[in-house]
Amino acid sequence: MSEFLILRFDLPDEAATLALGARLGRALAPGLSLWLEGDLGAGKTTLTRGVLRELGFAGRVKSPTYTLVELYELSRFNLYHFDLYRFVDPDEWEDAGFREYFNAASVCLVEWPDKAGGRLPQPDLRVQFDILDDGRRIRIDALTEAGRLCIARLNSTCQP
Ligand SMILES: Nc1ncnc2c1ncn2[C@@H]1O[C@H](COP(=O)(O)OP(=O)(O)OP(=O)(O)O)[C@@H](O)[C@H]1O
Ligand SMILES: [Mg+2]
Repeated sequence: MSEFLILRFDLPDEAATLALGARLGRALAPGLSLWLEGDLGAGKTTLTRGVLRELGFAGRVKSPTYTLVELYELSRFNLYHFDLYRFVDPDEWEDAGFREYFNAASVCLVEWPDKAGGRLPQPDLRVQFDILDDGRRIRIDALTEAGRLCIARLNSTCQP
């Protein structure tokens, strides 16, 4: 079992959030599922943008507020970016096939996981955002061995 369970970062500005996203992008592996938790405007989509840019997506990363999920077909894996803030219809979860997106070949980043009312599988990592007077504080917790390995890879790369 790897030793790292929790990492914390102080991010003074948007560029720091994007840089941490890039580091996280390099540390991701197929099969991982991450919950991104924090208030409106905390930086969840910004971090996702940093991940996607690092993994070669050159287009605009929009917040999937109304579509609930956006698929990015990257060279290393498919990445599903969820924003469940407006999730209301429990049947939609099954009907839209969201359950199948959580599989060994893809990576899922989920904003507002609590809105799914327990339909989500347990994540490998929880990323919690706090809004400070100047910037953001982020805490990343590993909940599985795959999550711990990801944290170990993230920790081994140089600071943003
Ligand atoms: N470390 C930081 N310090 C200060 N501002 C930041 C930092 N990181 C991101 N921001 C800014 O905060 C805002 C965060 O917006 P973002 O859309 O990423 O939040 P979100 O958590 O996805 O919100 P929502 O729940 O509404 O989807 C953006 O304006 C971004 O520029
Ligand atoms: Mg967002």
